Order: sequence, then structure tokens, then C-alpha cells
Amino acid sequence: MLIERLMTRYLRHITGTHMRFDADVSGDRLPAPRPGHNYLLYVHIPFCEVLCPFCPFHRVRFRGPRASRYFAALRQEIRHYRERGFDFSGVYVGGGTPTVIPEELAETLALIRSLYAVNEMSVETNPNHLRDEVVSLLKAAGVNRLSVGVQSFDDVLLKEMGRYDSYGSSAYIMERLASVQGVFDTLNADMIFNLPHQTLASLQNDLEILTGELKIDQVSFYPLMTAPSTRRAMLLTMGDVTFRREKPFYKTILTAMKQGYRPSSAWCFSRGAAMIDEYIVDYDEYVGVGSGAFSYVDGTMCSSTFSINRYIDQISSGHTGITAGRRLKLREQMHYDFLMKLFSLSMDKKAIEAKYGGGFHRTLWKELRAFKLLGALVEDDERYRVTEKGMYYWVMMMREFFMGVNKLRDAMRLRIREEWRLERVAVASRDVVRRTRNQDTAGPRGS
Ligand SMILES: C[S@@+](CC[C@H](N)C(=O)[O-])C[C@H]1O[C@@H](n2cnc3c(N)ncnc32)[C@H](O)[C@@H]1O
Ligand code: SF4
Repeated sequence: MLIERLMTRYLRHITGTHMRFDADVSGDRLPAPRPGHNYLLYVHIPFCEVLCPFCPFHRVRFRGPRASRYFAALRQEIRHYRERGFDFSGVYVGGGTPTVIPEELAETLALIRSLYAVNEMSVETNPNHLRDEVVSLLKAAGVNRLSVGVQSFDDVLLKEMGRYDSYGSSAYIMERLASVQGVFDTLNADMIFNLPHQTLASLQNDLEILTGELKIDQVSFYPLMTAPSTRRAMLLTMGDVTFRREKPFYKTILTAMKQGYRPSSAWCFSRGAAMIDEYIVDYDEYVGVGSGAFSYVDGTMCSSTFSINRYIDQISSGHTGITAGRRLKLREQMHYDFLMKLFSLSMDKKAIEAKYGGGFHRTLWKELRAFKLLGALVEDDERYRVTEKGMYYWVMMMREFFMGVNKLRDAMRLRIREEWRLERVAVASRDVVRRTRNQDTAGPRGS
């Protein structure tokens, strides 16, 4: 426990100093694509019918007309990246709830297919959208991985999470999941563990349903994560969050998932080898489109504006949605790769040394040695591999990393006002320049 407490403290320090954006970034700051590099397109749809109290993602209440205008802007931004020379082999549509307007989503996916040579398309949804007409649209659009937000099969917990009335009871979710089993190459269930009132028996029941009754293709088990902006609502509805029970919960998950599933990351488990993994596992660089999307290209991390109206404005004036970003220092980039690549449980030594001109081990030798001494990491000639003991350390590190990202999201929400102010200043100075030019071309009065 001492090791884990010290590690959490160290990780909070690291994320606190690394996870920040520079003050202002123009929409075209993202580096150009490198020829032959594999990029993922992340598409963010920030609308939900009901907002869950624990959710730190960028999401707003769904209103039809505004969402339609949003989808139109999104398609324009997707075209923009084609013009900038990007190609994407994978697409991940996340939210929010991407399926709030299935027809708009299908049109957007068709556009993506017409512009890019895509072979993997993953879409997130909620159980109440697993209706025949939505599922057929997604299937026809070429979606091959569908990820459904379940969280738990415990009705008491679903009520506390505010999802029972909006997204369905445990029995309803099971019935809906069974109805789409086999339709897509991969059907994934998103679960959360370490909920404040969750018991080991409740978690074991979830595991039994997923692996026994449903035999679901894939499960992502997220440890409950917090953000300053969600803490109060969570406390009022779900109870107080502590990380003390996280490890025993995770061990229960690991034990159960060993029966017939393989870990494709420290928290994602797949049945069989042919499943499509979480995008984070296969792609180390991605371009995010839509309000509230993050991008990471060639060491530069960017975020789009969290204001939907500002996003639409910015796209209609020919820009991307990006309003903040930062180029990571080389050591920060290495830390990022260390975390992400080993989250997928193994890392190619030659490839990572080639990426950093032979400097990866030389720079991070302390981290690599410490994890080896802890029994969390082993290496052979070709790869570093995370051991079963090490998997929990990567869960902890990713939890801290994403909680750092949650703080960035909070900061981006606070920036909205500042973004509008900067926009007003830019418009005013453009007006001054235009008026001055007009006066110059009009020539002196009376001539
Ligand atoms: C952001 S939602 C988007 C898809 C869909 N709206 C849904 O609710 O599943 C994707 C998943 O993120 C996970 N998630 C959301 N908030 C979380 C939190 N505070 N801690 C851990 N996982 C969380 C949930 O498992 C959720 O299903
Ligand atoms: S968990 Fe899903 S449905 Fe709930 S607010 Fe977050 S994005 Fe929306």
C-alpha cells in the first residue's frame, strides 16, 4: 500500500506540472502529418439526453437544431484535415452520445469513408439507442466496433448514477446487449469499478453476467475517476470516492477475466484474438475534431474549444476548432509514450529507440529500472512487457493521467469566456485594418 500511495503522490505531481496548455493557440497550430504515419481520427459528439453526475467529459444537454448545426460544422472540419494532407486508417466516435441523431452520424461516417482509407470504425452509444433502426444505420455505415455504456448491472448503483430512468435498468441493458451480439465485429461494454457503494458481490455479479450469460466480445473496466467539477455532484448522488478499494476490485476483475478473455490493455479484456482494441492501444497519434476534442500529433497536444457556438463560428470562418495547445518537451513525450505504450502491456524496444534517436532508455532508465525492481516490468531482446503484478500500476497511472486530463477539461470550460473576448478583439482589429485600407484606397477627399 505504501508503494501505491507514494506512486499516486508522485503521479499527481507529474500530471500537475505536465498537464497544461499555453495561453493562446491559433486553430492551425497542429503539426503537418508525417508521410506513412498511422493516425486516428477522433470525432467528439458532446450531446447527451441526460447528464450523468460522475461524467467529466465534454457533454451538454441535447437540443435538436443546435446539434444539427454542430454536425454540419463537424463535417467541414473533417474535410479541412483532408486538405491539410492527413489520412486516417482508424476512426473513433466518442462523446457525449454519438447516436443522438443517427442520420447525422451516418452522413458524417459516409463522408469520412469517402475521404479516407478507413479500416476501423468504432462508435460509442448508450443502451437506450440499441434500437433496430439505429443499429442498422450504424452497420450500413461500416461501423465495426460498437461500445455501449453499461457501468454496472446493479439497479441500485444505476439509480445512484442517474442512469436507471434515462438509459435503462439492468434487465433492459442485458436484453438490449443480447439483441446486438454478433452484429458488429466487436461489441464492447464500458463498465466502471470502485463505485462508492459497490460491493465485491455486486462486481462479481457484473462479471458473471458479462462473461457467463452474455459472453460479451469485449469489456473495458474503468476505475472510477474524479474531476474537481464532478466531485460535489458525485458526493451528493453516489457517495464519497476513495481509491483504497480499487486494488482488491481490480484483482477480482483480473481473476474473472482470465477465464476466456485476454487483456488488450490493463483495463480492456477481449474474447478471442480478432477483436478491435481501444484506439489508445493501436494509435499513438490522433487528430480530434469537434468541440472538446483533444489531438496529439508529433509531440504537440491541442484541445478544441468547449463552447459549441464558438466551435461552429470558428469552423464557418475556415479554421479548425483548436483554441489551446502545447508542444511537449522531449522528456514529456517519452513519459507519454512510456505510459501509453505499456498500457497496452508491451512495447517494441527497437521502434521506441528509433523514434527517439536511441535516447529512450538513456533518458528513462530510472523509471524502467524502478518498475523492473518492483516486478512490474520484464524485458527480453525485443520488448518490454508489463507483468500481471504491473497491470495494476498501469491502471493507477492511467487513472491519474485521465484525472489530469479531467482538470484540463475543467480549465478549458473556464476559458470559454476568454476565448470570446479574444475573438471580439480580433474582429475589432480586423475592422480597424479594413477601415484604414478603405480610407487609403478612397484617396484624399475632394480629389
Ligand atoms: C464518456 S462515456 C460516452 C459514451 C456514452 N455516453 C456512455 O455513457 O457510455 C464513455 C464511458 O466513459 C466512462 N466514464 C464516464 N465517466 C467516468 C468516470 N468518472 N470514471 C470512469 N469512467 C467514466 C463510462 O464507462 C462511459 O460508459
Ligand atoms: S456518461 Fe455518457 S451519457 Fe452520461 S453524461 Fe457522460 S457522456 Fe453523457
